[in-house]
Amino acid sequence: MKKEDDVKGEELVDLNGDGTEKKEEKKEEESKKSNGALKYIMIPLLCLIAIGGILYTVKIYKKINQIELIVCKDYDEMSARAAKIISDLIKENPRCNLGLATGSTPLGLYNILIEQNKRKEISFKDVKTFNLDEYCGIPRNHEQTYFTYMKEHLFKFIDVDLANTNIPKGEGDLESNVRNYEEILKKNKINLQILGIGRNGHIGFNEPGTNFDMGVHIVDLQNKTIQDNARFFDYDINKVPKKAITMGIKNILDADNIILMANGTNKADAIKNVMSGVVDINIPATALNTHKGKVYVIVDKDSASKL
Ligand code: F6R
Repeated sequence: MKKEDDVKGEELVDLNGDGTEKKEEKKEEESKKSNGALKYIMIPLLCLIAIGGILYTVKIYKKINQIELIVCKDYDEMSARAAKIISDLIKENPRCNLGLATGSTPLGLYNILIEQNKRKEISFKDVKTFNLDEYCGIPRNHEQTYFTYMKEHLFKFIDVDLANTNIPKGEGDLESNVRNYEEILKKNKINLQILGIGRNGHIGFNEPGTNFDMGVHIVDLQNKTIQDNARFFDYDINKVPKKAITMGIKNILDADNIILMANGTNKADAIKNVMSGVVDINIPATALNTHKGKVYVIVDKDSASKL
């Protein structure tokens, strides 16, 4: 049996003799082979990583890109930008279906639409409207209902046919009101939905935690909301509605296109969340990141201050 040292000795002899070149050639060949094998593994691997990276980036880009952010210098410009999108739609499709919101945010927008209607630049004669929500348990003509709001801030100043205006009913049999409004929305696809946003990211009366798959439904108002609303009801908690009827997030996302408006620093966090691209059930407006159509987020400088 050859000892280990003997074998090494033989190899040494060979290396120092004629076999040296051959051995080096062999080494080179082996290293070429292993380099080749490395190439076969590394190149496809790097390609895969690159393709994966591109796909990932495109996906993120697409997700954020479907929201068009329009930052305006102030409330008036925000209102004008939203009004332009709506009036362009009405000119292009005089029989369009508009989803409307209440609250302080769209008041400037409604004033511009009223002016354009007065100047006969647009007509609401064949436009149908669909409001997001309504309080329950107070009569329709109560001064704080969204029914009254719409009449006082828009409908009584424009040429809309009141038969074409739809606001969910908060009086009477609530369950059948829910079914009826859902039916109405099913039959009438909204072409453009206007939204305001709550500080906590709510849209319509869909508070944090609302399932994105919900259609029209009844909401129990949160204590904080009830207390906040007391100022509109003689500061008497007992007079404040405890329930509301609202389009669900699913109904909102069914609209072809959506405009979300926000002004003021108190909406900056909510807007930052929407624009971050996350989709979070605890921030209802982030559902807009899943919308298939066009979403315009039109904000003033203050609401954009955290972007
Ligand atoms: C109104 C509505 C609400 C408001 C939101 C913001 O119909 O559904 O979601 O859009 O509470 O209210 P404002 O505009 O008063 O800040």
